[in-house]
Amino acid sequence: MKLKLFGLPGNNDVSEKISDALNADIINIEIREFPDKEWYIRVNSDVKDCTIILVCTLHEPNNKLFLIRLLADTLRENGAEKILLVAPYLAYMRQDIQFHPGEGITSRYTAKFISETVDSIITVDPHLHRYHTLSEVYSIPNKVVHASHLIADWIKNNIGTPVLIGPDSESHQWVASVASQAHAEFLVLEKKRYGDEQVSISIPDSFEAKDFTPVLVDDIISTGSTMIETAKLLKKIGLKKPVCIGIHAVFAGEGFTHLKNADISEIITCNTIHHSTNRIDISGEIIKGIEELLSL
Ligand code: R5P
Repeated sequence: MKLKLFGLPGNNDVSEKISDALNADIINIEIREFPDKEWYIRVNSDVKDCTIILVCTLHEPNNKLFLIRLLADTLRENGAEKILLVAPYLAYMRQDIQFHPGEGITSRYTAKFISETVDSIITVDPHLHRYHTLSEVYSIPNKVVHASHLIADWIKNNIGTPVLIGPDSESHQWVASVASQAHAEFLVLEKKRYGDEQVSISIPDSFEAKDFTPVLVDDIISTGSTMIETAKLLKKIGLKKPVCIGIHAVFAGEGFTHLKNADISEIITCNTIHHSTNRIDISGEIIKGIEELLSL
């Protein structure tokens, strides 16, 4: 199998690591916008009969999804045999039911769109809440890799006496897994969401952990509201300032600034989305995942 790779802008770090580890030549593709904002795409490398790894993390996804479709079609036009999408952050997973009548279940439609665009997909800890596996919505071969043991290692190496805290029931899967691998206690709080940026967090039971360093663990940090409200609650009950760990540094709008200015001690993320808070490198897991998915 001839393996080649193309990383979209913003994905250089992970793309280079994959290319080095798997000996996949980086192909040259010219992408530019016409004056009227349509895309121009030209593949300048030989891709005939190749399997192409396209690396594109999918925060701020709307333009990227369409660009991936045009790229995949152009690569096929030029003879590429298979296309594997590496999307370290997979967008559109949270709208997984109709919360209100008339709403689109956009997780399904996006999964259909991507499944019609590429031949397989690999991602890191997608927001699987009401879906249990990606295959419930993705009809192509897929692989999910996990950051939990890397986060656990970071906690073991950097925090003396941690107590892990999940801000809501959806974070239970991540916080429980990280806690067991970090040999730490954990607690899951309750969250009510009233709007995109309005959440309230409450504590289910009485909780004594004054000598511990609270470590908030969640999959996505977007507006930062979940972590900010959790930090306020921890302050109210007399705990130390928490370390905030998110797998995916989505940081919508002013989310990063707001969180940085909140009552927290540190923000740590994985490099699924390039950001100044990236401290945990997940590229090794992605490389192993690609090897398994492509049977290398
Ligand atoms: C949703 O349930 C996710 O697990 C996160 O808790 C959520 O996306 C965080 O969003 P925000 O940072 O906007 O509160």
